[in-house]
Amino acid sequence: MTPTPHPRPAPPAPRRPLVGAVPGRLPYGTVPFGSAPFSDAPTAAGRAPLTPPGGSPTHGEKVQVTEVIPPPRRPAHARPPAHDRPPGHHGAPTTAAQTPKLGRRALRREQQATLDAPRRRYSPVARLLFLTMDVLYGRRRTLAKFQVLEIVARIPYQIWENAAYRLLTRRHRDAGLAHRVHARLVENREQQDNEQWHLLITAELVAASGRRHSWLRFRALPTLLAVTYYHLAWLLFVLNPRWSYRLNADFEDHAEHEYAQFVAEHPEFETLPHRSAYARTYGAYDTVADLLRQIGHDERMHKQESEHYLREGRLR
Ligand SMILES: [Fe+2]
Ligand SMILES: [Fe+2]
Repeated sequence: MTPTPHPRPAPPAPRRPLVGAVPGRLPYGTVPFGSAPFSDAPTAAGRAPLTPPGGSPTHGEKVQVTEVIPPPRRPAHARPPAHDRPPGHHGAPTTAAQTPKLGRRALRREQQATLDAPRRRYSPVARLLFLTMDVLYGRRRTLAKFQVLEIVARIPYQIWENAAYRLLTRRHRDAGLAHRVHARLVENREQQDNEQWHLLITAELVAASGRRHSWLRFRALPTLLAVTYYHLAWLLFVLNPRWSYRLNADFEDHAEHEYAQFVAEHPEFETLPHRSAYARTYGAYDTVADLLRQIGHDERMHKQESEHYLREGRLR
């Protein structure tokens, strides 16, 4: 009797390309950081041209990456992964929990979309916050000012995450509610993480600029701002969660526009190579301009998530 041959195992499926960095990327994780100090002072050239050479990009541009970026944490029930959707897709909402990494042309296109879009009608509380930032750090956009903004940016997500845990403690027997709260909780954790990358990256850029900043304005005052903002956001959330969501939507909209304008004001960023210790975790970008465009796009995702919460209201 002839023995039955064992079936041969199928060859492994080819790795799926991710949306993200452009071809020819340098191995950023191995390049010494800090070799290109630069200034964020405004230039006479003003706003940078945003139409890429070679014509307008097509919608849904996807670019092969040469460096594998670890995928972000994602809940088991997650919506389709970001790389399955084109940038700027207007169907199912792209959430902060899935902040997509865009290619260079998509980043330019989305920056222009931000510059063309009107800002939200900011609430009095948000306007007071932005005025305070301008008084303390000046109206001019600088990397150091963005670093301060990123210090406080995580706070609402921390408040919402804690509130979700407390709600789960009380209502975990309600399976439907528990599922919705858990999904929100995971999103809030991911938003915090995303903001944390922004903070670490802006701190890295400030350090690379070689400028020294005052301890009082850039260490002590941001701590005081963060404590004040924490209590304000917490109070708004306790009184009415929608007030807290609105404040954050305003904050994120402001950040999205500020990053877009900051890049437009600094054409020299277009040729300034970006080297980062966080490239393998956050994503690698050829230039500082593209990095800041990506951060600005993240802020738009955060804004849209807060606007979604605003429409949903209190979790029930
Ligand atoms: Fe941010
Ligand atoms: Fe944000």
